[in-house]
Amino acid sequence: MEETLEKILTAYRKDEGNIISILQDIQETFGYIPEDAVNWFSKKLDIPASRFFSIATFYAQFHLKQRGRNIITACCGTACHVKGSDRLISGLRKKINLPDGEDTTDDREFTIERVACVGTCSMAPVVIINKNVHGKTTADKLMKEIKKLKGKKSEA
Ligand code: FES
Repeated sequence: MEETLEKILTAYRKDEGNIISILQDIQETFGYIPEDAVNWFSKKLDIPASRFFSIATFYAQFHLKQRGRNIITACCGTACHVKGSDRLISGLRKKINLPDGEDTTDDREFTIERVACVGTCSMAPVVIINKNVHGKTTADKLMKEIKKLKGKKSEA
C-alpha cells in the first residue's frame, strides 16, 4: 500500500493538488477510502486526519467503506416510492442475502444504494445497475439482471 500512496503523494506535490484530489486518487486506486491511507497522508502532509474525513463525508462521491463489484442504485424519490420501490428493494435485499443495516454483501458482490429522485420519474420505479438505467422495473426484471451479474461472476 505504501508504494501506491507514495505515487499519489508525488502527483499531488507535482500538480499542487488539494485534499480533494488526494481523496479522488485514493478512491480510484482502492475503490474506497481506507482509514490507513488517510492516516498515512495526514502524517506525511501534517494535515489533521479530521480534515480528510470531513471532506470525505461531505461529498457523496467518496466512500469510506469497501463497496461491491456491482453497484445497484435504487431511486427512492416520491414517484418511485409510489410505484413500489421499497417493496422492490426489500425483495432484492432478501434475494442477495443482504442483512438489515448493511449496504454491501459479505462476498462484496453487490452494494445497494438508495438515492433521491434521479430525474426520470416517468420511468418509475427506476433502478440503476452499474450505471445502466432500468425504468419501469419489476421484481422479475430486477432478478433477471441480478442473475446475469451472478452468471458473469461464475464465468470469470
Ligand atoms: S422519483 Fe425516481 S426518478 Fe424521480
